[in-house]
Amino acid sequence: MIAAARDLAASAQSLDALRACLEAFDGCNLKLTAKNLVFADGNPSARVMFVGEAPGRDEDLQGKPFVGRSGQLLDRMLEAIGYDRSSAYIANVVPWRPPGNRTPTPQETEICRPFIARQIALVDPDVLVFLGAASAKTLLGVQDGIRKMRGKWMTYPAGGKEISAIATYHPAYLLRSPLEKRLSWRDFLAIRQSLSKQ
Ligand code: URA
Repeated sequence: MIAAARDLAASAQSLDALRACLEAFDGCNLKLTAKNLVFADGNPSARVMFVGEAPGRDEDLQGKPFVGRSGQLLDRMLEAIGYDRSSAYIANVVPWRPPGNRTPTPQETEICRPFIARQIALVDPDVLVFLGAASAKTLLGVQDGIRKMRGKWMTYPAGGKEISAIATYHPAYLLRSPLEKRLSWRDFLAIRQSLSKQ
């Protein structure tokens, strides 16, 4: 199934084609319980792309990523650095809501990984931001925790080039641990600075 996902994702030559592939793909059990595919929101031509873990209830109902409480915080953080959903692109590693918001299993994540990897290659942002450890670990294949990883520039290989990438805390974590917003603010300033240089 993972090989099928990889072939299908690689065959998509545009974001519309990739979305159509996911709509037609029956290899991930999460699709059976989700109400909607949560493909992306924002501007596909944006220079910055954010990748979260998986949709929650509000996202599932609306078919859009980060529209619940975490999404509202993400919007405020974007606004603080002069961005919004017309100048940023937002997606998740897993595009279907896991039942009851449970963590996606390693197998579900692996099946979805080729699709988000292709989505990143097609968007081809200047800066890629991993929201939370799950997204960074899945896409970079690293095991470090988010405390260690956040705020450090890395590169993510996509479409034959190296994209500047950075991990930061997931907004849902910031809602639970508001004191950590201080460090997120640093990360967002670094993102703004990197975008202004490129
Ligand atoms: N958390 C995520 O990781 N993604 C969403 O879309 C919403 C909450």
